Amino acid sequence: MLEFLFKRRLSSSSLFPDGMDMHTHILWGVDDGASCLQDSLGIIRRLKSMGLKGAYCTPHIMARYPKNTPDYLRERFEQLLADTGDEGFQLKLAAEYMLDEQFECQLATHTPLTYDGTLLLVELPQYFLPAGWMDMLLMVQDKGYTPVLAHPERYGRILQESELLRLRSRGIQFQGNVGSLAGLYGKAVADTARKLRAGNHYTWWGTDSHFPSMAGKMCLSG
Ligand SMILES: [Fe+2]
Repeated sequence: MLEFLFKRRLSSSSLFPDGMDMHTHILWGVDDGASCLQDSLGIIRRLKSMGLKGAYCTPHIMARYPKNTPDYLRERFEQLLADTGDEGFQLKLAAEYMLDEQFECQLATHTPLTYDGTLLLVELPQYFLPAGWMDMLLMVQDKGYTPVLAHPERYGRILQESELLRLRSRGIQFQGNVGSLAGLYGKAVADTARKLRAGNHYTWWGTDSHFPSMAGKMCLSG
């Protein structure tokens, strides 16, 4: 199935109307994504070959990576821009915030990395709901940001679909992973992604690319 899907270009997909991948780990050496500049370039070239014109770098900000403050990531991002300037691929910086024990402190002490000054990408762990996670989302909204929940289709172990829809009704936006539609994370995730998509619950899509090879395993339908 993936072979067939590879033949379509992301640029012709309604998932990426402006050609921007909203979720990637292109910024190297800061999380579990690209580990060196060659990885970053490999992902960029793969996304370009799929027809995308740019991407947000959304490195993890979570307790596991204590160095990842907005200031540090901005500095690293500036270097990446200098090193990839010849690629003809637009890079922007945001971040993927884990709703964990350091989140409240991060938000209180740093101006967050957002898509456009108002949209804040957040994620949940796959296997448990962190204490106070709903309060954290409310705190984001109280501070004037709109939470964008990364890959909600992947939270089947911790949230029912009805609970996902309740989040939508509370003004939380969803960012889907295109790989979910292709079954990259299994059938249950693919089914949830298709249902949420059919219900027009996604505002944003991304590849969540961590490595060049992963960037190739994306659904190009739609
Ligand atoms: Fe991610």
